[in-house]
Amino acid sequence: MHTLTLTPPARSVAPTRIVIGDDALSALPDLLSAERTVVLFDQSVEAIAKKAVSSLQNPLMIGVPSGDASKSLEQVERITAQMLGAGCTRKTVIVCIGGGMITDLGGFVAGVFMRGVPCVLVPTTLLGMVDAAIGGKTAVNAGGSKNMIGSVTHPKAVIVDLTLLQSLPAAQVQQGMAEIIKIAAILDQPFFEWLEENIDAVLAMKKEKTEECVIRAVEAKVRTVEADDHDRDVRLLLNFGHTVGHAVEALSGYTLPHGSAISIGMNIEMALSGFADAPRVTALLKKAGLPLELPSAHAKKDLWAAMKTDKKNEDGSVRAAVPQHIGEGKIIALDERVFLSLKP
Ligand code: GLY
Repeated sequence: MHTLTLTPPARSVAPTRIVIGDDALSALPDLLSAERTVVLFDQSVEAIAKKAVSSLQNPLMIGVPSGDASKSLEQVERITAQMLGAGCTRKTVIVCIGGGMITDLGGFVAGVFMRGVPCVLVPTTLLGMVDAAIGGKTAVNAGGSKNMIGSVTHPKAVIVDLTLLQSLPAAQVQQGMAEIIKIAAILDQPFFEWLEENIDAVLAMKKEKTEECVIRAVEAKVRTVEADDHDRDVRLLLNFGHTVGHAVEALSGYTLPHGSAISIGMNIEMALSGFADAPRVTALLKKAGLPLELPSAHAKKDLWAAMKTDKKNEDGSVRAAVPQHIGEGKIIALDERVFLSLKP
């Protein structure tokens, strides 16, 4: 078992314990000494959720429909109403079991219920393990845009149980690879070079390579969040692919999976910035079977309008994080005319 501690920059915020390994879920009961435990789970992983908390006395189980459309204020209201109805208090702990949708939504509920209760995240997808569950960002979608209402609420612990990956469909592995490639391309050159050597083994879920890949991605993200957990500085780089990607995702009505959307986003943002090593990043995205082109159904002017609502924008300019060398990034302003004239 590999254990890391993420220490947020503010001294008043408690560190997050991150446990990675086979059977990491066995660490869960010891983390739950609460009066009451709420288990918020994606309905597609109900069996995993029930098994994970089978030793707990009378947990309040709340299922959430799969899909990003569940990241909504309506779900926050429904979940908090159930918690209040069940007599939950400030001593309640929320365990969130599922992919990025559940950890974003459940983390947000934990941040606002009675002004904050502890939460433990159990990501069940590769994307959740390496990105969504790490670093305290929580959110729901609003106003037709992605992640518009949220908080930075650091969880008490994140349990990354690698045995959950064994039954993950290949399509879900691909989605996680998009975030892994993003992290390596913009933050960690040695990890990127390792991926160029080992991506086939990771895609085939070879045990040792998968474990090394997850640990390296989590370590790179932890280093970044420890330096800046509020997107003021270096954490902004983790938004590589997301300015275009979030707009693509929103225009698809959240039917296009997040990893696919940011793969398209990375490819377009690299083209807009003229990044010389873009073909190396594109080669990895292609190997992972991820899409690179904008869906033809999306008119560029509609995408640009959606990009104008991005949280990173400043002074009326649409901004994006892009690599300037492999493992190093910068923030640039995107030009509307260049974007609109890009070949699809
Ligand atoms: N997913 C981007 C971040 O955590 O900052």
